[in-house]
Formats: sequence, structure tokens, C-alpha cells
Amino acid sequence: MKRLGSIPMAATRLLDPERAHDLATVALRSGLLPLRRRRVASPRLATSLAGLDLPNPVGLAAGLDKNAVALRALAGAGFGFLEVGAATPLPQPGNPKPRLFRLEEDRAAINRFGFNSHGMQKVAARLEKWRRSRSGKDAVVGLNLGANRDSEDPATDFASVLAECGPHLDFATVNVSSPNTAGLRGLQSAERLERVLDCVMQARSLLPRPIPVFVKIAPDMDDGDLGDVVRVVRETGLSGIVATNTTVERTGLKSRHRDESGGLSGKPLFDLSTRVLARLWRLSEGSVPLIGVGGVGSAQDAYDKIRAGAGAVQMYTAMVFDGLGLAAEIAKGLDALLERDGHASVADAVGADAEKWL
Ligand code: FNR
Repeated sequence: MKRLGSIPMAATRLLDPERAHDLATVALRSGLLPLRRRRVASPRLATSLAGLDLPNPVGLAAGLDKNAVALRALAGAGFGFLEVGAATPLPQPGNPKPRLFRLEEDRAAINRFGFNSHGMQKVAARLEKWRRSRSGKDAVVGLNLGANRDSEDPATDFASVLAECGPHLDFATVNVSSPNTAGLRGLQSAERLERVLDCVMQARSLLPRPIPVFVKIAPDMDDGDLGDVVRVVRETGLSGIVATNTTVERTGLKSRHRDESGGLSGKPLFDLSTRVLARLWRLSEGSVPLIGVGGVGSAQDAYDKIRAGAGAVQMYTAMVFDGLGLAAEIAKGLDALLERDGHASVADAVGADAEKWL
């Protein structure tokens, strides 16, 4: 059977990737994609992560809906939670085009968008409007926090976006790991990360409702760096870690676009990001909530991430190839895998295979 939503998404593959991405977003926004509303939930899939109650643990990763324009359609696709953004304080165009490349043979993408954003005020207004609508009430929605390219102090940028959009969110993610904004990844070093997260937590404390805040890290970090991240997350009172963003590594790729600069996502990122996840699980002794992202394209991949230490997973690039219907398909397949192995819940399987990845 054809996957739900796969026909129009597949048709857009004939176009330039960014144009296809824009068209798919416009189609989602206007309800043109034939997406039946589906919710995938079961007692086995329902899970709690950092205080968020999720109907299932399969989420949408940041970057697909940067400006929160397609929430209604995305909320009906079967995800357990959505992350929109990144949003920056001021609107900015991002890097010159072309800046998105599809690596068909590798089932991967390279992007160097560089935080193209409509800016936090527009994003906040859309989140608020959607939240007030009927469908907005039962979906778990978070925002990826970004910094402006020419910002003098990115720490205050993340905090500003949280202050502006936080009242309409269920969670937020501090993105210090995009490879496409000069200097951003430098904020992952212990001392600088501490200041960034202190600043963000200060903004959080002023919200009418304190929401969980995660930090999203790069896959290109060694054990020493990861240990520092776990320590700083604990000390600053953050809720958890999203592992991982795209990589600057390029190994074993076949596609002609493989040498484009930017962040690589999709299948080739799976092992690298899952190893980071398992290391974080071990370093934190399972005590820090983790969201696993990078190369998830099947129910087995989602299950592997959970068994490596993820309390929930996210995905993006696989849907460029297989359509939005993949979300519901993966959530259902995951339910079957949990049942097959005698797990009564997602939590029961978290970290069960972490050793395998170390
Ligand atoms: C991304 N990603 C991303 N991440 C983030 O934290 N903020 C962002 O704005 C974006 N933007 C973005 C744009 C595009 C075109 C892609 C492909 C990716 C990274 C994304 O959320 C995810 O971490 C990686 O893509 C790895 O997951 P997948 O794509 O392999 O499932």
C-alpha cells in the first residue's frame, strides 16, 4: 500500500530540493496534502519524558517547519510530539541558495540553511493562534531556539526567543549545535554552555508556566565533551538532551553532492548519533532524559535508539524520501516490536542495549 502523503512528497523530488521543501510546506499549510488525521496511541507507546505526556515517542525533528506554518497538518500526521523552529529573535534570510542538497543514493541530505527565520514575534503569534484552536490543545509542541547570525551574545538570543514564545509551548530546545552559524558549536564547551543555559533557565523561571528545556548537541563530540555536557545539564537544572544535530563528518558517501559544506543528516548519521546517545546514557547512568535523533527511517531504527538510551526519538530526513505517513508507520511498527519483545512500555526498553553501542 502507498504510504499516506508519500505521493505528493515523492513528486516534489523532481524539483530543486529547497523549492520542493517550500512547496511541501505550503501544501501542508493549506491542507493540500491528502493527510487523514491520525493519532497513534496505545498503552505500550504512551510515555512520559521530562514531565511531557506523549501519546507515542516518535517526534518531528526541528527544521522542517521552521516558522510554525504547518502545525495543523503536522499535528494530524501521527507524531507523538512536534518540534518547530529554529526561531531567531529577529527575522533573517539565512545563507545564500542553494543550501539544501538531497543525497539520493545515500538516503541523506546536506543543508546549510543558517537559521532562515521569520523571527520570534511572527512565530509566537502563530503558536498562540494555533494553541487557541481546538486541534492545538491536544498536541505536544516545542520550539528549537536559535540565535541571529550577527548576534553579539547568542546566550541572550536563546533566552529572548524562549521569553517571547514560551507561554505557547510545551517544551523548548537550545540549539548550540547547528554547523551553519559561525561560532555556534563553540557554545558547547563547558564554560560557555553553562552561561548559555543559566541565561535560558533565567528566562524560563519568568514564564507563567515552567516548561521542560532541552539542549541539542552535535554528534561530533568526544567522551570528555559529553561528560561536560551531562555535568552542566545537571548543574543548570535542564530537563534533558537532544542527541544529535547534523554532522560535519563525510565518510562513505556516494552521491555527487557529498562534498557540499553544511550538516549531513539521514541514514549515514544513524550510527554516529546512536553512539553519542548511548554514551550520554552511560555517562548520566540513565538519569538524564534523552531524545534520540539522527537517521531514523524505520520502526527498527526507532527501537534501536530507544534501546540505546532514548526516552523518545525524532526524525526528519527519512520523510523527504518516504513522505509524512512514515511517522504513523514507525509508531505502529514500534508498538509491535515492543510487544514482540515483551516490553509493557517504552520506558521498559530504554537503555536495554546501550552497552552494544559503547
Ligand atoms: C535540520 N536540523 C535542524 N536542527 C535544529 O536543531 N534546528 C534547525 O533549525 C534544523 N534545521 C534543519 C534543516 C534541515 C533541512 C535538516 C535536514 C535538518 C537537524 C534535524 O533536526 C535533525 O537533528 C537531523 O536532521 C538528524 O535527523 P534526521 O534528519 O537524520 O532524521
